[in-house]
Amino acid sequence: MASSSLNPLLYLFPLLFLDPFFSQANLHTSKIFLSSSLFSQPSSTNETIPPTLFFEVTKPIQVPHTNPCSLTVLQHDFGFTYGKPPVLADYNFPSGCPHREFSKIVLEWNATCKGRQFDRIFGVWLSGVELLRSCTAEPTATGIFWSVKKDITRYSSLLLSNKTQTFAVYLGNLVDKTYTGVYHVNVTLYFYPAVEKLDLFKEKMRNLGSKIESKADLIIPFSRNLPLNDGLWYEIQNANDVKVKEFEIPQNVYRAVLEVYVSFHENDEFWYGNLPNEFIAANNLTGYAGNGAFREVVVGLDGDVIGAVWPFTVVFTGGINPLLWRPISAIGSFDLPTYDIEITPFLGNLLDGKPHNLSFSVTNALNVWYIDANLHLWLDSKSAKTKGKLLQYDTVPLGVSSVLDFKGLNGTFVTNTTRFVSSTGWVKSSYGTVTTKAIQDLSYSNTMVMNGNLQIINQIIHFNDSVNANIPAFNALSKKSLKRFLFHLYSDYIDQGNGTSLSVANVTLGFDEKKFNEADAGSPSSSLRNLQKGKGVMVVKNNLVVSGVASTQQSYSYHGGRFCYSRDISSSNYTILSDEVGSTCNKRSKPRSGYGLSRWLPVPA
Ligand SMILES: *[C@@H]1O[C@H](CO)[C@@H](O)[C@H](O)[C@H]1NC(C)=O
Ligand SMILES: *[C@@H]1O[C@H](CO)[C@@H](O)[C@H](O)[C@H]1NC(C)=O
Ligand SMILES: *[C@@H]1O[C@H](CO)[C@@H](O)[C@H](O)[C@H]1NC(C)=O
Ligand SMILES: *[C@@H]1O[C@H](CO)[C@@H](O)[C@H](O)[C@H]1NC(C)=O
Ligand SMILES: *[C@@H]1O[C@H](CO)[C@@H](O)[C@H](O)[C@H]1NC(C)=O
Ligand SMILES: *[C@@H]1O[C@H](CO)[C@@H](O)[C@H](O)[C@H]1NC(C)=O
Ligand SMILES: *[C@@H]1O[C@H](CO)[C@@H](O)[C@H](O)[C@H]1NC(C)=O
Ligand SMILES: *[C@@H]1O[C@H](CO)[C@@H](O)[C@H](O)[C@H]1NC(C)=O
Ligand SMILES: *[C@@H]1O[C@H](CO)[C@@H](O)[C@H](O)[C@H]1NC(C)=O
Ligand SMILES: *[C@@H]1O[C@H](CO)[C@@H](O)[C@H](O)[C@H]1NC(C)=O
Ligand SMILES: *[C@@H]1O[C@H](CO)[C@@H](O)[C@H](O)[C@H]1NC(C)=O
Ligand SMILES: *[C@@H]1O[C@H](CO)[C@@H](O)[C@H](O)[C@H]1NC(C)=O
Repeated sequence: MASSSLNPLLYLFPLLFLDPFFSQANLHTSKIFLSSSLFSQPSSTNETIPPTLFFEVTKPIQVPHTNPCSLTVLQHDFGFTYGKPPVLADYNFPSGCPHREFSKIVLEWNATCKGRQFDRIFGVWLSGVELLRSCTAEPTATGIFWSVKKDITRYSSLLLSNKTQTFAVYLGNLVDKTYTGVYHVNVTLYFYPAVEKLDLFKEKMRNLGSKIESKADLIIPFSRNLPLNDGLWYEIQNANDVKVKEFEIPQNVYRAVLEVYVSFHENDEFWYGNLPNEFIAANNLTGYAGNGAFREVVVGLDGDVIGAVWPFTVVFTGGINPLLWRPISAIGSFDLPTYDIEITPFLGNLLDGKPHNLSFSVTNALNVWYIDANLHLWLDSKSAKTKGKLLQYDTVPLGVSSVLDFKGLNGTFVTNTTRFVSSTGWVKSSYGTVTTKAIQDLSYSNTMVMNGNLQIINQIIHFNDSVNANIPAFNALSKKSLKRFLFHLYSDYIDQGNGTSLSVANVTLGFDEKKFNEADAGSPSSSLRNLQKGKGVMVVKNNLVVSGVASTQQSYSYHGGRFCYSRDISSSNYTILSDEVGSTCNKRSKPRSGYGLSRWLPVPA
């Protein structure tokens, strides 16, 4: 099995971080482990030590100063849940809640765990619509606690329904003598009633006949069909695996947005570091993940590519070096980003009252990708039938330019790709005839250097998309999002010559996004810069990690109209070294829209 000729980070087994006294643990973990590594001591019975707080750095959710209605929708201990059906609970809108209009709805996931356990991916669904994709924190002997909050206001139509619905959580955990961690979880929903002023403003907007940026009226899930329609992702196993689902939409839709959830595991957990097949073959390597370093999720409608997702490189809490993510978790690990694809231009094709096919595949995929999606639909309340027509559809097939240059185990590989999808179509509803143009313009560049045991990766993704809508009686409305995803890894494996080796890994993760509400506006309506740098060393003996230390530094800066948030934080070996939080907006990032509401809403004349 494990060839020691290459950096073991490249090799396909979960790294075990074990206390030397417990190094009997079997390295041959089966594929059922969903992620890469673990560092923990056995469970302690000492109840006096408070659990360590693990967290992901992110901006707080802006909620109105109103008292929320709350509902604990699920309380469960996730023990041996692997391969079992999702844990289910009935969901009913809280009967005691006197309000029906909310400006914010927040989901809160609180969990504790103690002992030794891998990082586990999990999903949360309501009526088959995924609400949250996340990864558990890896516990310690003395116990950990973490809390994830997510703004789920966009799912309001579902959450406010009067029907009893199925709330589902799948978290595949394994518990035995070695992996002792049971995840104790509470999921609570908070419904914040709108403040009156905002209500009136919204009402005015509604009367103006604009619900463009309001929440969808109906959400159709594209998740795996289980008897109970309780959710669960599709599993994409390889590059030829295409998941297709037939669907029909109501006859009075005037806007449609597809929200895609995606996570990557096992052979593709670190897809951005996967080796070219030519290199693997030439060196007779076995057990290394191949297919090169490029992946994309391709979304098809009746056989046409209507969009793609070039995902951010989320590193799970056991990834690369688990000590990097204690207690500061990697960007996106507790709340994986989702990706919106505007499909309004295609409504003309979909409004024929017939079934259509939506498909998902992953270019170059290795086992396994978890994918599902939610189709958000806006319905015309004043008309039973809308009409539409696709005017233009232009897709430039994936462009790939690559360089493969290697001799033995040394080499340099460059993979550059681009993709472009553009569509324009009109929809006629009681709001008039609205022409929408949607563009995805994507570029990717990955440079990988191999030098024996050393691997250096530099990857950058530009994920640019824009939507332009011409609404009668209003100016053209447009929004644009420019995302930039950075990934850098320097990882080496140094044989000490005495049976121990050092595994060194320096990693940089960057998630930047600028949003504009008018295509040509010079300054963004919001901007996020989120950069994480970590470095760590692990001492490896007999393929077991016996000790290690790591430090992480993160700089988070968000500017959005009147709300700004920044945090500069660093940690080392479980300890926060510095932590500076700011919430003032500097002059350069003055608000563009006085009301703090999106300018995507038509401005009253
Ligand atoms: C539990 O931990 C506390 C604080 O570290 C220590 O004072 C106490 O002796 C420990 N108790 C046991 C039973 O180990
Ligand atoms: C969940 O944890 C957060 C953070 O500690 C806390 O503020 C909140 O009250 C907890 N929620 C519940 C329902 O206990
Ligand atoms: C879950 O809620 C119960 C009941 O309020 C509480 O005892 C428990 O500590 C909570 N667990 C977590 C992880 O927040
Ligand atoms: C749900 O019930 C409430 C109270 O009976 C009612 O006001 C509301 O209109 C109903 N909502 C829907 C979506 O049927
Ligand atoms: C790979 O295996 C083939 C066939 O066994 C052999 O001819 C070749 O020399 C090997 N190459 C390397 C780099 O070990
Ligand atoms: C959808 O897929 C099914 C099964 O492959 C096929 O029979 C049907 O013709 C497709 N429909 C469209 C509109 O492409
Ligand atoms: C790939 O893209 C990078 C960054 O844009 C560029 O420097 C490099 O020349 C490109 N290489 C190839 C082979 O296209
Ligand atoms: C690969 O690089 C290492 C270290 O730089 C060097 O010792 C070795 O000779 C190189 N191998 C080949 C085949 O070039
Ligand atoms: C995306 O936008 C950025 C910033 O404007 C630009 O530098 C980059 O070239 C764009 N990328 C693509 C693929 O259009
Ligand atoms: C192995 O060698 C390294 C480097 O000389 C040294 O730091 C380490 O203590 C040694 N470990 C053992 C178990 O001898
Ligand atoms: C990686 O981090 C180590 C430890 O801080 C540092 O000594 C080394 O210079 C870094 N290497 C690179 C290539 O960044
Ligand atoms: C890391 O922290 C642990 C516990 O606080 C301590 O025992 C250990 O010596 C520290 N290691 C380093 C390298 O600082």
